[in-house]
Amino acid sequence: MAELIVALDVPSPEAVPPVLSKLGETVGWYKIGLELFCAGGPAVVESVAGAGKRIFLDLKLHDIPRTVARAVTAAARLRVELMTLHAAGGRAMIAAAAEAARACPADQRPKLLAVTMLTSLEQDDLGDLGIGRTMPDQVAALATMALESGADGVVCSPREVGRLRTLLPSDALLVTPGVRPAGTATGDQKRVATPGAAVRDGSTHLVVGRPILEAPDPAAAARAILAEMRA
Ligand code: C5P
Repeated sequence: MAELIVALDVPSPEAVPPVLSKLGETVGWYKIGLELFCAGGPAVVESVAGAGKRIFLDLKLHDIPRTVARAVTAAARLRVELMTLHAAGGRAMIAAAAEAARACPADQRPKLLAVTMLTSLEQDDLGDLGIGRTMPDQVAALATMALESGADGVVCSPREVGRLRTLLPSDALLVTPGVRPAGTATGDQKRVATPGAAVRDGSTHLVVGRPILEAPDPAAAARAILAEMRA
């Protein structure tokens, strides 16, 4: 059964409790990204975890292997269950992060998700980065390398998820942002899919922000998305 993760894209720790109270028991998972983590630090992670919620810490780590490994160990102490790192950090960095995760106590072992190519990049940007492959081939190559190196899964757009499902091990986590229920605003997301399509194509976790946070009744919006995921 795929899981729904709400992107806690709010500017300050003070903005978190109203979201948690509006969504209540409907939502069990929250993604904390760079904005909220820079504003609220580890305390904000602890407060969301303390409310009984599961945490996806989306800091997209990219540094030398030792530094990333130590960040994984520190995040695990915050009871983070999912966290991101850039596949472009390479095999040694991912392997060091995976080893750090394995060394954590079993009930505090974060799963590592590799970010392949940022969805803000386009084919034309690849030349500037010295990459000769097409975008789909680059995404597939980085995802495969990341899983071989010890990552548990990848973050991918709904457009990529079907192909990655066939290429990666069957237990790979495929975490998909860019999800928009039919008839809702896409905002700045260009490559979107409905919750039903994302799950059908193989997503294990759907990350949804604005369609829930900006809805007149956020809990009802989340329930509708969950119903579509399960249908
Ligand atoms: O509001 P929305 O549903 O677009 O939020 C999606 C969340 O997923 C945001 O936190 C965004 O930063 C994140 N994300 C994304 N695309 C990626 C990786 C992360 O939209 N490729």
